[in-house]
Amino acid sequence: MSAVVIVGAQWGDEGKGKVVDLYTEHADMVVRYAGGPNAGHTLVVGSEKVVVRLLPSGILRPGTVNVLAQGMVIDAAVLVGEIDALGARGHQGVGERLRVSDRAHLILPYHIVVDTLRETSAREGKAIGTTKKGIGPAYEDKARRTGVRAGDLREPARLAARIEAALEAWAPTLRALGGEVPDARAILAEIAPLAARLVPLLCDASALVDAAVRGGQRVLFEGAQGTLLDLDHGTYPFVTSSSAVAGGAAIGAGIGPNRIDSVIGITKAYATRVGAGPFPTELTDADGQHLRDAGAEFGSVTGRPRRTGWLDLPALRYAARVNGIDGLALTKLDVLTGLRTLRVCVAYDTPSGRTRELPPELFDDPTSVRPVYEEHEGWQEELSGVKTLDDLPATARRYVRRLEEQAGVPIYLVSVGQERRQTVVLHNPFFGRAAAP
Ligand code: IMP
Repeated sequence: MSAVVIVGAQWGDEGKGKVVDLYTEHADMVVRYAGGPNAGHTLVVGSEKVVVRLLPSGILRPGTVNVLAQGMVIDAAVLVGEIDALGARGHQGVGERLRVSDRAHLILPYHIVVDTLRETSAREGKAIGTTKKGIGPAYEDKARRTGVRAGDLREPARLAARIEAALEAWAPTLRALGGEVPDARAILAEIAPLAARLVPLLCDASALVDAAVRGGQRVLFEGAQGTLLDLDHGTYPFVTSSSAVAGGAAIGAGIGPNRIDSVIGITKAYATRVGAGPFPTELTDADGQHLRDAGAEFGSVTGRPRRTGWLDLPALRYAARVNGIDGLALTKLDVLTGLRTLRVCVAYDTPSGRTRELPPELFDDPTSVRPVYEEHEGWQEELSGVKTLDDLPATARRYVRRLEEQAGVPIYLVSVGQERRQTVVLHNPFFGRAAAP
């Protein structure tokens, strides 16, 4: 297998970082294809942990090419800041391992201002709970055809003209929100030193990635956010503004969908969501608090406490469908330790009857549907030393097997702790069955 996509099967924060990191060890190239600095993933190298928002997960591995592809929106200041922060920690050669699509769109200061003003001035119940990193407005500019692309950094006159045109387009919105229309010259002055750093990294990412895949290199497409935050397939309008699903890898990286060999979906053993929007299995009781505390469920970009709840199997089946998931990575099973009874949503009661699928009403009228739960006996044992599924307590094993059966896709990996070694790998997408990473 050469081209593998890893996607979040829930609302993001599924623990993609650890799984991507495990498989990255075997990748020649790691490609981010959607989103921007709204993501946050932790790189673990030896005893060191670094949280990055834009850089792909292979960035610290010598010999791995890391690509920010054209489906992304890039904040040049954040990117240069991340490169410099790694340099300051003694990691050399980060820039040499990084390539940036010249067609990726730039997040500029006015995007962040609009995102923030909209969120803070939204009427009750209307705020999306965005990360306020300018993601939505940057993608709006892309769709409105007033965006500024990374390749524009090469040509100061073109860059200036595009920024001026974008400011003209944003002026009414900014004024309506009570904001000021920034001065194009100030933005240009701010961006000039960043441009000098980024221009040498620019490339035709589609050509680069396609050549790697065709050449039989192992290419990992690193998803960001999650299926239910996808612009088309998520719980709209409470979604991000990009194609987070596996198909987004083909669009965002500029390769044919037939080049992708395998899709891995990541799901926690329970569910979380950060920001507003439907979350039918949400818990607001002591069990929910247990999940938040034991799972350290606080946003890695914003620090916000995450909403927590029981695993939603109709949602997982939906994610399996819209992504074409071949195998699941199940994370944070250890967080369930200590709960006496576990519940799993297996179906929904809707105005038109009971369904095993994610009901359409969930997207438009979530109060009209009710999750149907199956109860499972919990376990009290620590799982951190578990090496194989046979080491799991019988109740935990039953939970995993039931999940697999209900999701309809095999489990490739089970994570029982933060450390690399606290992982049961059943299948490595690059090498096949039981090949330990
Ligand atoms: P935006 O992507 O900042 O526009 O935020 C839109 C929605 O997606 C909000 O509910 C955010 O909390 C959520 N979101 C964006 N990125 C992530 C992520 O990486 N993990 C989890 N939620 C995210």
